[in-house]
Amino acid sequence: MELYQVHILAFATLICFTSAAHGWGVDGHLITCRLAQPRLSKAAADAVSQLLPAYAGNDLGSLCSWADRVRFRYHWSSPLHYIDTPDELCSYQYKRDCKDEDGIEDRCVAGAIYNYTNQLMAYGTGNSQYNLTEALLFLAHFIGDIHQPLHVGFTSDRGGNTIAVHWYTTKTVLHHVWDDSIIETAEERFYSSNVDEFINTLQTNITTVWASQAKAWEACSKTVCPDAYASEGIKAACDWAYKGVNNGSVLEGTYTDDYFMSRYPVVNMRLAQGGVRLAATLNSIFG
Ligand SMILES: *[C@@H]1O[C@H](CO)[C@@H](O)[C@H](O)[C@H]1NC(C)=O
Ligand SMILES: *[C@@H]1O[C@H](CO)[C@@H](O)[C@H](O)[C@H]1NC(C)=O
Ligand SMILES: *[C@@H]1O[C@H](CO)[C@@H](O)[C@H](O)[C@H]1NC(C)=O
Ligand SMILES: *[C@@H]1O[C@H](CO)[C@@H](O)[C@H](O)[C@H]1NC(C)=O
Ligand SMILES: [Zn+2]
Repeated sequence: MELYQVHILAFATLICFTSAAHGWGVDGHLITCRLAQPRLSKAAADAVSQLLPAYAGNDLGSLCSWADRVRFRYHWSSPLHYIDTPDELCSYQYKRDCKDEDGIEDRCVAGAIYNYTNQLMAYGTGNSQYNLTEALLFLAHFIGDIHQPLHVGFTSDRGGNTIAVHWYTTKTVLHHVWDDSIIETAEERFYSSNVDEFINTLQTNITTVWASQAKAWEACSKTVCPDAYASEGIKAACDWAYKGVNNGSVLEGTYTDDYFMSRYPVVNMRLAQGGVRLAATLNSIFG
């Protein structure tokens, strides 16, 4: 093989590996944004439609994974997709945990949510130094990511990225199970692989079985409350993700129906919370 071919291969492998390792997968983000957009107030819907590039056809969902696609171009944005918390503590504190590997403060998904919320507050004033289209796309993506339980995970296993497992017969890592596999299995099994049907069911549940809870999900005394979402996240990670095949401490193994059926409702709820809170945040910013 020519040297450049080796490089291309290595690069392709890197892309496959890292793109899988950061955030809900494409469908998780699509679902969050598609749940949020119909819940926007008139003012927020207008602002979003102004900020979205024309080619998005006013569909926030179509660009909800944009932040993952620019992770190579905007290398600095990489640590903004997650939070590493101390091993086994099962708690999160902004001051203690919201930093990157070099210890630089605010460089985590909660810090990024504050950052892009603040930037968007300047919308309509005409004096922002930032690209508010990018601010919107980052914010929509990061509110999704912070709801993926293993995006607020333990430091030494990098949110389950170093835990090798089998999902049924497929070799993967625990982090990927929560980014993609549970969602994909649910789509195949319950929705004939049609993500729109999945979204419709979640949307219906938000207005029926979850109606009163959804009010509580939106509650936030500031414009946005990422610290509350992160605290819920690490708790869900400890209660559900880091529980292994037999709810024990051994995490390596083969994950099948027991794990899928008991964790799928947790994923549903986190997706719904992400969508409801993204809408509430945008309504509050542009209200
Ligand atoms: C805040 O946003 C700016 C513009 O995208 C970026 O350069 C900076 O790294 C961000 N910081 C955080 C903590 O999100
Ligand atoms: C803002 O960011 C978007 C997405 O990266 C880009 O397409 C657009 O050209 C930028 N706008 C300005 C004024 O730089
Ligand atoms: C919607 O709610 C029903 C009734 O509680 C439940 O059986 C179903 O799993 C839920 N589906 C989703 C996607 O949340
Ligand atoms: C693990 O715990 C969940 C939730 O309590 C339960 O639904 C599931 O059946 C348990 N699985 C095993 C193998 O004990
Ligand atoms: Zn992400």
